Amino acid sequence: MKKLAIITGASRGLGKSSALALADKDVDVLFTYHQNKAAADDVVETIQQKGQKAFAVQLDTRDVAAFEVFISQLGIILEREFGRSDVDYLLNNAGTGMHASLEDTTYEELEDMLAIHVKGPFFLTQALLPFIKNGGHILNVSSGLARFSMSGSSAYAIAKGAVEVMTRYMAKEFANRQIRVNTLAPGAIATDFRDGNVRDNPQMNQMVSSITALGRVGEADDIGNAVAMLLSEGSGWITGQRIEASGGMFL
Ligand SMILES: NC(=O)c1ccc[n+]([C@@H]2O[C@H](COP(=O)([O-])OP(=O)(O)OC[C@H]3O[C@@H](n4cnc5c(N)ncnc54)[C@H](OP(=O)(O)O)[C@@H]3O)[C@@H](O)[C@H]2O)c1
Repeated sequence: MKKLAIITGASRGLGKSSALALADKDVDVLFTYHQNKAAADDVVETIQQKGQKAFAVQLDTRDVAAFEVFISQLGIILEREFGRSDVDYLLNNAGTGMHASLEDTTYEELEDMLAIHVKGPFFLTQALLPFIKNGGHILNVSSGLARFSMSGSSAYAIAKGAVEVMTRYMAKEFANRQIRVNTLAPGAIATDFRDGNVRDNPQMNQMVSSITALGRVGEADDIGNAVAMLLSEGSGWITGQRIEASGGMFL
């Protein structure tokens, strides 16, 4: 049977690139988007053109209360759209960034970062666990900023640091079902993230290139390809690990 991946936030950016890279490897994709239905519909169409099945669901992954409705519909969606009742892979990818000094960060801003990067993936994974096959693989998206520090990123980076600890605990506890759990930590990638700062701001682009061993900023496909590589049979003995895909930032 073909593999099926659930990806959060695959209407744009790294989630979209991951969905397309997985489709190129013969994987069907069920993914969520937040507000951008038109973009999600385009991704569904592109995956279908590659010969795989795809379906998009609207979900705010910071809204834990909404997960109950999503889960209550999931069995029906899996059966109707994919002719099956379980999934092989989960990519917890959806996320937003922010920029403020620690001194200026508000309570609400820190809460928001923890909601979308920590509480959402924690409780969504918990809710999806009955659907994930024994021997499945969960990838949680962190950031290079959880390893190195850049001013203005404290709330975001603290949340991503929690993602990495969460990954190790998931790997420990889900191992009884042979489910592997790893962290993928991208460096700075040219997407819409943080208003397209890495992609569109020449000074930022230049600064990132100068601190990156491979001499350029990352592109979405650098991460999509890394996801497809990690969510493949060859990674079967890797669990509880943090894999950074940053082109060698701050080596
Ligand atoms: N880009 C980077 O430099 C970078 C570096 C390290 C880590 N990351 C991490 O990589 C992940 C993806 O980033 P990206 O660069 O692909 O960002 P992006 O281009 O802005 O795309 C964000 C995606 O997440 C979805 N999303 C946003 N808020 C959501 C919410 N509340 N609920 C559900 N989905 C939501 C968006 O859906 P809509 O299209 O519907 O809005 C979109 O599909 C994030 O976790 C980010 O922290 C990014």
